Amino acid sequence: MPTALRACVTGLGMAVPAGVMTNDDFAKFLDTNDEWITQRTGIKKRRIVGEGESTASLSTEAARLALADAGLEAGQLDLILVATISPEMIFPATACFVQANLGVTGIPAFDISAACSGFVYALTVGAKFIESGMYRRVMVIGAETLSRFSDYTDRGSCILFGDGAGAAVLEATEDLSKGVQYSCLFADGAGWDFIHVPAGGSRQIASAETVAQRLHYIKMKGRDVYKFAVDKMQWLLEDCMKACNLSVDDVDLVVPHQVNSRIIESATQKLSFPPEKVYVNIDKYGNTSAASIPMAMVEARQEGKIKPGSTVVMVAFGAGLTWAGAVVRM
Ligand code: COA
Repeated sequence: MPTALRACVTGLGMAVPAGVMTNDDFAKFLDTNDEWITQRTGIKKRRIVGEGESTASLSTEAARLALADAGLEAGQLDLILVATISPEMIFPATACFVQANLGVTGIPAFDISAACSGFVYALTVGAKFIESGMYRRVMVIGAETLSRFSDYTDRGSCILFGDGAGAAVLEATEDLSKGVQYSCLFADGAGWDFIHVPAGGSRQIASAETVAQRLHYIKMKGRDVYKFAVDKMQWLLEDCMKACNLSVDDVDLVVPHQVNSRIIESATQKLSFPPEKVYVNIDKYGNTSAASIPMAMVEARQEGKIKPGSTVVMVAFGAGLTWAGAVVRM
């Protein structure tokens, strides 16, 4: 009988661009202000890529740090996954650019497009490759440069998004009490128009007209997304806890997708999670989509909120519509 395996998180890393954009910076060219943005979203500032920076460059930096944290060389990896909706190019995959940047060849590398749920989707795919025995070491990256796809004339959406990358190294372990204990993935394509970029794909190719109509930028139905996110976040937390037989006391930290501090508070309070068990760093980075959970993992560990043996519940939701959850024992 094959040995049962789990995918253990053995390394974490994150990278953000140096450029900072505060709420006051938006108020210089949009009809908005720091008070409105802070109250409605919890965001104070976000990091924004500059010239020469891209999704692959941030991914590569995060991956290098995660490898160093795991004590591994890039040549020891069996697979590279990048979760992103702001890829380097339409093709090839951002993961292939990362592979080349890391100086390795031959191993598979591909992207996963599940928007803000992307990291949990990729974590699950990586974990399943390990549990099946096909690969032993997988690099899972969540990375975005959504500032490049944000319409800076649309105050209802552009103030939300920031750039960054987070990476996790997954390694096979026979200790079944460690690693990814449970995960669940969902989608409802009927809600595709809640958040999307209309042009630049095969349905509506790039033209002078699509550029003039600003169709290469994110379009969002904010209110609808808000309701969807509160509902799914609460549902996912309940599902993850039920599946692993966990009470609030058993969970060391909830690491939610950094969507909006009001959404996070509303869902976690309904389940009686005290604020100290819910990690929030959206004030510094905004919504970095697929990058938000691994970036939050890095900072939570730095702050001593995640330690070896900690039980972490991740919950995410986003464009697609997609939603996903995971329980990981560190
Ligand atoms: N500054 C000032 N006013 C703003 C504004 C801004 N940046 N953006 C919108 N407004 C205005 C609207 O124009 C509207 O004005 P009106 O009443 O005169 O028409 C008013 O504020 C309320 O707009 P509304 O869209 O209903 O606000 P809201 O309370 O729903 O907050 C979001 C807007 C976007 C912050 C909120 O809907 C949200 O967070 N949604 C989820 C979006 C998200 O997280 N997307 C990513 C998912 S992974």
